[in-house]
Amino acid sequence: MEIKEINSRYSELAESDCCLSCGGAINYAEPMIGEVCVDLGSGRGTDVLRMAESVGETGFVYGIDISDGMLEKARKNAEKFKVTNVSFVRCELEKLDLPDMIANLVISNCTINHAADKQAVWNEIYRILKKGGRFVISDIYSTAQVPDEYRNDPVAIAECWAGSVTRDEYLKQLENAGFMSVSIIEESAPYDKGKIKVASWTIAAKKPSGCCCIN
Ligand SMILES: C[S@@+](CC[C@H](N)C(=O)[O-])C[C@H]1O[C@@H](n2cnc3c(N)ncnc32)[C@H](O)[C@@H]1O
Repeated sequence: MEIKEINSRYSELAESDCCLSCGGAINYAEPMIGEVCVDLGSGRGTDVLRMAESVGETGFVYGIDISDGMLEKARKNAEKFKVTNVSFVRCELEKLDLPDMIANLVISNCTINHAADKQAVWNEIYRILKKGGRFVISDIYSTAQVPDEYRNDPVAIAECWAGSVTRDEYLKQLENAGFMSVSIIEESAPYDKGKIKVASWTIAAKKPSGCCCIN
């Protein structure tokens, strides 16, 4: 039900000009030549195309989305600008259709709050990152636990607010997935969204590169 709502809301928005982001992850991500990057909730594909330019012909960028309208728009944009080192994949954030340890960089802008099982999303980010790979993610958190009446409302979740978790819960999920030392790049003051108060932030962390032991 929730995915159906998300697909329908975002397919409608695909052709509009309205801004869908809540932060500037792309501005801090610094994709480098030859890297493999992934954008979770790639929408119209704007950030994917920007990263494709940065990683060059030897790099590759995957855009992940569940909305048919957004995927169609993103693919058309790639075609229009003749960008070939990209692929837009239809799947859920909780079950990424990508191999283990494929990515140097994962970004996302205002998407993870939609996911029904956010812990699964963080586990998936950890799985697809190479050792030493990094994420830079913009999202929202709620200042208090979202009341049940909204938390289970698929329309309110699709509207980008009712799916949010608290700051503490957010950080706990990151830690559970294996990400230590998360840096907070930007963080807003709380503001009203839907029926609750949220804050936006951009956070980053690396997957541990493993230790080198000399016997
Ligand atoms: C708020 S928009 C952000 C789009 C883009 N990142 C941007 O900043 O313009 C959220 C996007 O995430 C996608 N999305 C939401 N929930 C998803 C899920 N569970 N799995 C995959 N994609 C999802 C939506 O279809 C939509 O394109």
